[in-house]
Amino acid sequence: MTRLPGKFNIDKKAIIITGGEGVLGSTLAFELASLGARIVIIGLNEQRGQEIVSKISGNKGSAVFYHASVLDRQALKEIRKSIVTGWGSIDVLINAAGGNMKGATVEEDETIFEMNPDDFRKVYELNLEGTVIPSLIFGEQMSEQGRGVILNYSSMASLRAISRIAGYSAAKAAVDNFTRWMAVDMAAKFGDGIRVNAIAPGFLVTNQNRDLLINEDGSLTDRGKKIINQTPFGRFGEPEELTGTVLWLITDASSFVTGAVIPVDGGFSAYSGV
Ligand SMILES: NC(=O)c1ccc[n+]([C@@H]2O[C@H](COP(=O)([O-])OP(=O)(O)OC[C@H]3O[C@@H](n4cnc5c(N)ncnc54)[C@H](O)[C@@H]3O)[C@@H](O)[C@H]2O)c1
Repeated sequence: MTRLPGKFNIDKKAIIITGGEGVLGSTLAFELASLGARIVIIGLNEQRGQEIVSKISGNKGSAVFYHASVLDRQALKEIRKSIVTGWGSIDVLINAAGGNMKGATVEEDETIFEMNPDDFRKVYELNLEGTVIPSLIFGEQMSEQGRGVILNYSSMASLRAISRIAGYSAAKAAVDNFTRWMAVDMAAKFGDGIRVNAIAPGFLVTNQNRDLLINEDGSLTDRGKKIINQTPFGRFGEPEELTGTVLWLITDASSFVTGAVIPVDGGFSAYSGV
């Protein structure tokens, strides 16, 4: 177990990661646990969640998994009670649960009129309300403590139109706006001890998007090629490459940063394409 010095220290901090059994969330769970944090994973994949908890415990770390939806207010309130009873406080909430859903996309040979509005609502609900609801329940606890950090997961899709993923893009744009809104409101009502920020990862190959980016023979799809051409680093990112920015944003190292959406994207959002 490593301990980070000074402002980056997260030893014994209670850190909730929603969707912490997913690809990006689990990478973070392992890395933050190895730095001494107590990890709470909230998600829907019980088997994967328990595997991560066992692995962290096996490495002398501390982790617990709760099977609950980020849309289930009652379940989240009970989790809040249980964490506070056990550990006394909630230091960090990382809202990583989210993702795209097939029905909320517009295929290349379709027009927007073929998109299913019910699926659009579902993807919007998961990504936006699935960020808002935990932020209210665990953020209220932070307001009582007078300190805490919330970190949301945005996306490159929130900035400019990325073809096909209409519902996901609308939801992540709303996550950016909610991040700024809650940051400002929390600062106005509770002072500078509570910060709300977001990271906007660029393109990492995960279960959600593998088929869109890489063909079965390992070559890039047309979409994958376009993304790489638009990324100055000329490659996809790796989940581990988000950790440094997350660590900075969840610790006192970023004590004057709130309401920010930080791209971690190999330059994708900076590049005009020309
Ligand atoms: N993978 C990328 O390239 C990328 C890029 C930008 C942003 N993101 C965002 O990062 C976050 C994590 O993405 P990922 O690639 O690890 O996805 P993932 O599908 O591997 O993980 C998402 C996790 O969320 C959980 N989940 C889904 N619905 C839930 C619900 N209602 N309640 C609780 N948990 C629920 C799933 O069980 C899963 O473990 C998402 O918000 C995603 O939109 C991903």
